Amino acid sequence: MPEPLNVDEFEAAARARLTEPVYDYYAGGAEDEVTVRENRAAFQRIGLRYRVLVDVSERDTTSSILGTPLSFPVILAPTALHRMAHAEGEAATARAAAAAGVLMTLSSISSTPMEDVAAAAPGGAKWFQLYHYSNREISEELISRAHVAGYEAIVLTADAPLLGRRERDLRHPFAIPDGIEAVHFKIRPRTSGVNDSPLSDFLNQPSINWTDLEWVHAASPLPVLVKGIVRADDAKRALDEGCAGIWVSNHGGRQLDTSIPTASALPEIVAAAEGRVPVIVDGGIRRGTDILKALAMGATAAAIGRPQLWGLAVGGQVGVEKVLELLREELSLAMALAGCRTIGEIDASLIA
Ligand code: FNR
Ligand code: LAC
Repeated sequence: MPEPLNVDEFEAAARARLTEPVYDYYAGGAEDEVTVRENRAAFQRIGLRYRVLVDVSERDTTSSILGTPLSFPVILAPTALHRMAHAEGEAATARAAAAAGVLMTLSSISSTPMEDVAAAAPGGAKWFQLYHYSNREISEELISRAHVAGYEAIVLTADAPLLGRRERDLRHPFAIPDGIEAVHFKIRPRTSGVNDSPLSDFLNQPSINWTDLEWVHAASPLPVLVKGIVRADDAKRALDEGCAGIWVSNHGGRQLDTSIPTASALPEIVAAAEGRVPVIVDGGIRRGTDILKALAMGATAAAIGRPQLWGLAVGGQVGVEKVLELLREELSLAMALAGCRTIGEIDASLIA
């Protein structure tokens, strides 16, 4: 098979290597998957008002977030169970992120212990994503392990009090393959269910509310970001609670179908943040131009979920590195063609 030329071709190559249930779990979303499609379409619809006759022979894609340098403003979004994509799982992803100079957010539902992921890429920047449980001892232990293992922030996911209804996973039905586990949890998920995914055993926190965010802050020696926000009032509340950053996301369209696309939510959240904290956006970022648009709208960084899994499935660490290099090159070219030499020069005037 020829080398994939873009993220979509990585997806096609990954699909050919994965079992159908695993591909569908990764690719799919909730119900009619309207939001899965709209996340992407919303970025594609934004027109770029590029600037001409700027000397772009030298360009610099570097930036930073919360003091962490990034070779370009991209973050790996937390995604579950990387060992379903490749035997080396999250360790390979972490090595790729470190080699590419980007930050990795490790999912609570990792298939590799967080300490082993950290040890695999000692110099790599990493955050830990938390699913908070009514059993606070579980959360407390995860936060403290993350701190000890060198993770630099906790990302509390707020958009999943219950698992969205993913019909692809019900149809097969999806089961976590033998030999792979959500290692941070002692719960053994049911193999399958007719009307229910085994993942719902890990995402069952219907009582989660603002008091829990307060509790996470108190329990965490690390800065806390909130992920899953799509409206300004929630962003303001998170800031009032002392959050170190806002992560605009609808979980890649996997939770509430017909949620607004994140590109539509971003401007009001950037306005609410008033430059006080970084704003991250994910959902449908597949091109360098998508990253450029996210930054032009005021995001500090764009995050990618599925694309890292496609790279991992295709080539392990090297595959993830290739996906990141592709996106970095696309961004650099988009900057050149839009008349931007640095990340700082990407401004709101680029958006029609
Ligand atoms: C996710 N996402 C996610 N989010 C989270 O906070 N914790 C998690 O464990 C997971 N797991 C997960 C698994 C898979 C297979 C996918 C595709 C997504 C959501 C993820 O962090 C991110 O918000 C979306 O993936 C972004 O959309 P794109 O880039 O996939 O379009
Ligand atoms: C998902 C969970 C694990 O989206 O966040 O599948």
